[in-house]
Amino acid sequence: MKAYITAVAHYVPPDVYDNHWFSTFLDTSDEWIRERTGIRERRFLREGATSDMIVPAAREVLAQRAMQPSDIDCIIVCTVTPDQFFPSTAANVQRKLGATNAWGFDLNAACSGFVYGLWVAAKLIEAGGARNVLLCGADKMSSIINFEDRTTCVLFGDGAGVVLLEPGDDEAYGVQDAIIRMDGEGGQYLYMPAGGSLRPPSYETVANKEHYVFQDGQTVFKAAVVGMAEVSAEIMERNGLSAETVAWLVPHQANLRIIDATARRMGLSKDKVMVNIDRYGNTTAATIPICLSELYQAGKLHRGDNIILASFGAGYTWGSLWLRWAIERTQV
Ligand code: COA
Repeated sequence: MKAYITAVAHYVPPDVYDNHWFSTFLDTSDEWIRERTGIRERRFLREGATSDMIVPAAREVLAQRAMQPSDIDCIIVCTVTPDQFFPSTAANVQRKLGATNAWGFDLNAACSGFVYGLWVAAKLIEAGGARNVLLCGADKMSSIINFEDRTTCVLFGDGAGVVLLEPGDDEAYGVQDAIIRMDGEGGQYLYMPAGGSLRPPSYETVANKEHYVFQDGQTVFKAAVVGMAEVSAEIMERNGLSAETVAWLVPHQANLRIIDATARRMGLSKDKVMVNIDRYGNTTAATIPICLSELYQAGKLHRGDNIILASFGAGYTWGSLWLRWAIERTQV
């Protein structure tokens, strides 16, 4: 048995902020942001929480399969911006959807959340621990970015992507293999200094702006270029995949230069690489499922396509996952 993605949808907030908007209050420019990152615009959620972006995408996923919320038996929410520390955002999604038969949990692997989550969900299904798993990658990054820090605030956006996973009998389809890594030594280069048990919120932490993303961009950049490219090349090698037999690279969208380096290492031409960072920026755990959803909506995913997902994020966490697409859009 393998786990198939049987439906996919996404939600992005309607409010668009282009690069010029930042130059009205920061020393930055459209040119700098575009050339260094590939980002042109991003979307920020004005009101509501991470779960409010997940719910519309989840409803669409259920509609694609003509399922009821009560058909879901597990909800996994990959996020670094949960609605609250507890209860889990998964519990909030369960309540808002009315998915009365579902258990679930949040998973924090930052930008690698969706790759981690997809591997966990696939293994859960293969082991018989769940049948219909709602896997969500979502982040409201605008809630944790410092709009006075030009080195980070221009990079991120808000959004959500949701897939439904179901068991499938033909083992040639669905989630096939993954290489998942973590290196806690990288934690010091990309993190939120306060708010947790290490530095609980205080007047001091708020005054010092410690509740926002801190990133040593150059150090993370170098680690990401090497890490994402290495695991992506390795997963191709060990599964006998070639540039010809891979249909799509669906990479985490943090920086166009990191994406290009990964594609080069895999020998893939640009037309096989999904890119939407120009429109959404880095939506952390949401980038990969939003990419999958847009490819699917455009009719560009076909049964049997070999797809490589690749990510790198805080932790450090990184990984690459190979799946063979199991459905045709005409079926839904
Ligand atoms: N506008 C204008 N100038 C800016 C700027 C902005 N928004 N942000 C930084 N700069 C300046 C810096 O202050 C620096 O100026 P200095 O040379 O006078 O000190 C200069 O631009 C170069 O900064 P640097 O940090 O070296 O740029 P970079 O080419 O490394 O690009 C990132 C910065 C953040 C885009 C890049 O490092 C990156 O993408 N890092 C990895 C992100 C990532 O993958 N995260 C993991 C997943 S979330």
